[in-house]
Amino acid sequence: MNNAEHISVGIITVSDRASRGEREDLSGPEIRLWAQRWGYAVLLEAVIPDEFDAIRTKLIACADSGIELIFTTGGTGFAPRDVTPEATSSVIERFAPGFGEAMRRASMEITPHAMLSRAVCGIRKKSLIINLPGSPKAVRENLAVIENAIPHAILLLRNSVSDCGST
Ligand code: MTE
Repeated sequence: MNNAEHISVGIITVSDRASRGEREDLSGPEIRLWAQRWGYAVLLEAVIPDEFDAIRTKLIACADSGIELIFTTGGTGFAPRDVTPEATSSVIERFAPGFGEAMRRASMEITPHAMLSRAVCGIRKKSLIINLPGSPKAVRENLAVIENAIPHAILLLRNSVSDCGST
């Protein structure tokens, strides 16, 4: 399938409190709304605790089921249980540092706290995995930075770009 409109999306909220039902997950739904605005198909939404193994297992299941674009939200900061970047790094086969660099650079114009995000992004098989911070505001701001590069990234992963300069 070569149509970027049909990109399949997985959304993994990483939060101890949301996974226990003690806090409403607002960031996952924020990503879902964004994906729907772009015409993407959200195939999976999950809320899991800040546990390395849980994050790793869910990312592997998502990627290996063929979901093309996988977002995590939360757990990228400095708190002791913020291990989303480590779990993500453990499943990525090829890193895609440009996404994290772009998000941090643009977000620094909004808040100096942007430099606290340790988000990593990369490729497992044919899936692009992107760490986002954990607040709905940060999700919105960071998606706005990367959204225009995503269709081309996914088409490249599908190996359906014959001339990079023409898309
Ligand atoms: N980026 C943007 N654009 N807007 C934000 O409000 N919050 C920052 C940062 N990136 C923020 C942002 C903060 S306060 C932190 S601690 C880090 O993301 C990590 O967030 P996380 O631990 O929720 O993943």
